[in-house]
Amino acid sequence: MASTVPVITVDGPAASGKGTIAAGVAAALGWHLLDSGALYRLVALAALERGVAVDAAPALAAVAATLDAEFAGDAILLGGRDVAARLRDPDVGAAASRVAVFPGVRQALFERQREFRRAPGLVADGRDMGTVVFPDAPLKVFVTASAEERAARRHKQLIAKGISVTIDSLLRELRERDERDANRAEAPLRPAPGALLIDTTAQAAGQSIAEVLAAWRGATATRSPS
Ligand code: DC
Repeated sequence: MASTVPVITVDGPAASGKGTIAAGVAAALGWHLLDSGALYRLVALAALERGVAVDAAPALAAVAATLDAEFAGDAILLGGRDVAARLRDPDVGAAASRVAVFPGVRQALFERQREFRRAPGLVADGRDMGTVVFPDAPLKVFVTASAEERAARRHKQLIAKGISVTIDSLLRELRERDERDANRAEAPLRPAPGALLIDTTAQAAGQSIAEVLAAWRGATATRSPS
């Protein structure tokens, strides 16, 4: 049965600012938040910890299907341990992009993502939220930023965490990840038809959040009888 619970989808490439925008919109509306990338990162981390190779499709699908994970406020539990900080490490992000190419992994996470759709509403961020997981979402957003700006943002975050990397190596990794996410056969990264496009290269998060909220108000005003 189709759900009547509204969903706003926020898709885009790595470090585009979609996570910040999604969290801001969810907080403003008092809605639930799904960070779907965290699920792919959890599968990648569980695979790394169990010694499952990132190209072993059937074993990875089994890891995804039996993922013992829980979101509890800011904590993300894997087998009862809080791995939220570890999930943000670059090696986990790169592995997540690799495991995400396999249809068996995506299928195993599909229903799990849809279970986040609960009243009063859901803001879902990822790569295929608007195209595959919530195709009936009444508002779809696609967030972009130049690769150089995204690499600079990642660099700042990693330096703040005491991880030393060069912007050049980050730029290379981001481009590889974009390429893999956009060109995979299953659920590639692309804007959903009719998506609101937001370029955050030279725009502060607050302004992007306001744009999404204005679009949502506009969408609901159009739908309600006058
Ligand atoms: O958004 P993120 O950087 O946390 O995502 C990590 C990887 O997970 C990303 O490179 C591709 C994959 N992913 C995906 O394939 N589909 C999603 N809906 C979210 C993430």
